[in-house]
Amino acid sequence: MKALILSGGTGSRLRPLTYTGAKQLIPVANKPILYYAIEAIHDAGIDEIGIIVGETKAEVKQAVGDGSLFGVKITYIEQDAPRGLAHAVKISQDFIGDDDFLMFLGDNMVRDGVTAFANQFRAHRPNALILLSKVTDPQRFGVAELEDGRVVRLIEKPKVPPSDLALVGVYLFDSKIFEAVNAIEPSWRNELEITDAIQYLVDHGRIVESHVIDGWWKDTGKPEDVLEANRMMLEYIVPHVEATLDADSAVFGRACIASDVTIRNSIIRGPVVIGAGAHIENSYIGPFTSISDGVKIIDSEVENSILLQDTRIERIPTRIDSSLIGKNVQITHADQKPKALRFVLGDNSQAQVY
Ligand code: DAU
Repeated sequence: MKALILSGGTGSRLRPLTYTGAKQLIPVANKPILYYAIEAIHDAGIDEIGIIVGETKAEVKQAVGDGSLFGVKITYIEQDAPRGLAHAVKISQDFIGDDDFLMFLGDNMVRDGVTAFANQFRAHRPNALILLSKVTDPQRFGVAELEDGRVVRLIEKPKVPPSDLALVGVYLFDSKIFEAVNAIEPSWRNELEITDAIQYLVDHGRIVESHVIDGWWKDTGKPEDVLEANRMMLEYIVPHVEATLDADSAVFGRACIASDVTIRNSIIRGPVVIGAGAHIENSYIGPFTSISDGVKIIDSEVENSILLQDTRIERIPTRIDSSLIGKNVQITHADQKPKALRFVLGDNSQAQVY
C-alpha cells in the first residue's frame, strides 16, 4: 500500500498566514500539521508517500525533504493549479501504479492515527473505504448519506445536508478509483471532486465501505480550527523542561521548554511548548500556548495562542488570548504621543481591540 498526501491548494481561509507559507506547515504544538500526517501514515506501515505540491512546493520540499527524517520515501507530484482532490489523484496514477493507496488531506489531523482504517481496508478489500464523522456544521464538508450502513450518496458542501456525517479527509482506494477520476466532470466550483469520483464508484456497483470515527479529527481550514488542534495536541505533549529558570520564575503543569530558552521573572502554566532561543521576561504564559523558536515575550501575558518564529510581544497591558500570530510580527507598546493604536497589518489580517 502507498499513500498520497495533498499539500497543494491556496489556504485562502488562513490568510494572511498563507500569503507567505503553506497552510499545511502551520505548526500545531510546534510541529507542522503535515508532519502529523506523515507520522500517522508511517505508523500504519506505509513507507512510500507521494506528496501533491502546488505553489508552495519549495517550502514543503524544504520542510519534508526526502522523508528520511520520518523513515519514509517521499516522491513530490506537482499540480499546476488546485483543480480538485480527484485531479490530484488523476495526476498521481504513475506514482500509484496498481497499488492500493491511502489518501490524506494535508490540512487534516486525526488524533488516533490511521492504522485501524488501513488494517480494515487490508482485511475487507473494498474498492474504497471512506471515513465519516458526525459534525454540527455539515455544510462545510463533503456529506454522506447512508442506507442500512451502505453509502448511497455523497455531496460536496451541500446547502441542505442530507445527514450530519462529514467526510473526513482520509480515504483508502484500490486502482478502480482511476476509472472514476478519469470519467467525472468538473463541479460548479470547477474542481474535480473526490466525492463525485466516489459517487461514480457507488453508481457503478463498486464496494464503498464507510467507517464512522468517534475519535477527534479536525480540518484545520480556519484559524479557530488551528487553535483547537493546538489545544488537542498540547494535551499529549511529554513534559520536558530543559531550560534553567531563574529564582523568580516557575513552571506549573505540562511544559516542553527547549534548553536555550531564557525565562526570567515569569510564570508558565501548561500545557505549553516553547521553542529554541525564545525569551520570556516579566510575563505570564497561560495554558494551550505554543511559542516557536526565537519568540520574545516581555512584560506581557499570552494564553491559548500560537506564536510563530521570531515574533516579539513587549509591554502589552492586556492579556493576548486565542490568537494565531505569524512570523516576525511585532506587537509592542508605544511611548510617544498621541496615545493611539498603530497598526501595519497585511491584507486579510484580523485585529480585535478591547
Ligand atoms: O477536510 C475534509 C473535507 O476536505 C471533506 O469533507 C471534503 O469532502 C473535501 O472536498 C475537502 O474539502 P475542503 O474544501 O476542506 O478541501 P480543501 O480545498 O481545503 O483541500 C484539502 C487539502 O487538499 C488541502 O491540504 C489542500 C489540498 N489540495 C486541494 C485541492 C483542491 C490539493 O493539494 N490540490 C487541490 O487541487
